[in-house]
Amino acid sequence: MDAQLPVRTMDDFRDVVYNFRLSRVLATALDLDIFTHMGQRFWTPKALAGRLTASERGVEIILRNLETTGLLKRRGASYGVEKLGRTYLNRNSPAYQGAYLDLVHRQWEDWAHLTDSVRTGKPIEDDGPDDPDYRRSFTWAMHQRSIRPAKQVAAQLDLNNAQTLLDVGGGPGTYALEFLKHNSTLRAGIWDRQPALEVAQEIAKPLRHGKRLSYYPGDLFDNSVPGKFDVMWVSNVLHIFSPAENKTLFKKLKRALNPGGRILIQDTFLMNRPGCDALETNLFAVTMLLFTPTGNTYSAQDVQQWLKTTGLKKTRCLQLKKGTGDWDGVIVEGRV
Ligand SMILES: C[S@@+](CC[C@H](N)C(=O)[O-])C[C@H]1O[C@@H](n2cnc3c(N)ncnc32)[C@H](O)[C@@H]1O
Repeated sequence: MDAQLPVRTMDDFRDVVYNFRLSRVLATALDLDIFTHMGQRFWTPKALAGRLTASERGVEIILRNLETTGLLKRRGASYGVEKLGRTYLNRNSPAYQGAYLDLVHRQWEDWAHLTDSVRTGKPIEDDGPDDPDYRRSFTWAMHQRSIRPAKQVAAQLDLNNAQTLLDVGGGPGTYALEFLKHNSTLRAGIWDRQPALEVAQEIAKPLRHGKRLSYYPGDLFDNSVPGKFDVMWVSNVLHIFSPAENKTLFKKLKRALNPGGRILIQDTFLMNRPGCDALETNLFAVTMLLFTPTGNTYSAQDVQQWLKTTGLKKTRCLQLKKGTGDWDGVIVEGRV
């Protein structure tokens, strides 16, 4: 996403406001499971309408719009699916990202309630006790979104001096597993809720390096850190909580660091400098407003300051190679 999206003229304003149209077209394509139904074949609107039990007029208009996005290609009066739709968006493909698609798709309705959340400062629904089925599906979605960046991060992050790593709020363990793959003597643990760990176990089971992974069920705030570690890896967790909660968590983690250990924090940071993705980071804060009681997005400088107040005096920002890693490829490090 572009770092800046200036709205200075009515034309700019219209473009931004109307961006929802394309997003709605994609949401409808997912509702109809168009990419799965189309598979590898070419379809006329009439034949596809028959298959989807939908109107020929509606299907023809949606197909035409999907073609303009590049998701479909046209041959005469027929349409076929391009690579993205044949892989990540097709239920019958091994690369299908179903859990992640469900997660983003569900948000379509949720964002319509943003004004309520802005008025109250509260999430749109208070889901009470965490539903294990939802938690498992969310964890699969996290795995699907994190596989690519995890490989890139693990290839660049130097963990040579570490024997042990705790993946704090590690969910599916996507990052922990990549770190294990790249560091043959490392042992890692995931600290998260039980339903998330069940997904992590399923993912790690067929993997050789998965044997060096341990599972610590628990709550980051209600329970103690499960042991002492050389590295605390905190990826995409910070944005769920308030500054005060994050400082509390950092204090806990710092006490559980082995001598010479470090905390590494990955998230979508406001970098307060040009070229960084403020637009995405600010929009992600909206997601946190809609779905969490206290979450937000923060600047890397704020996070370094919080680390310092917990006694981690040596802090810095690690920048991965341009275009690699999660978000903007920035990782904040704090050492004793
Ligand atoms: C956005 S996911 C990030 C997963 C993974 N670290 C990654 O970057 O792909 C946040 C994770 O934090 C976990 N989490 C959030 N609050 C927690 C809490 N209070 N106790 C334990 N885990 C928590 C969630 O279950 C989820 O797995």
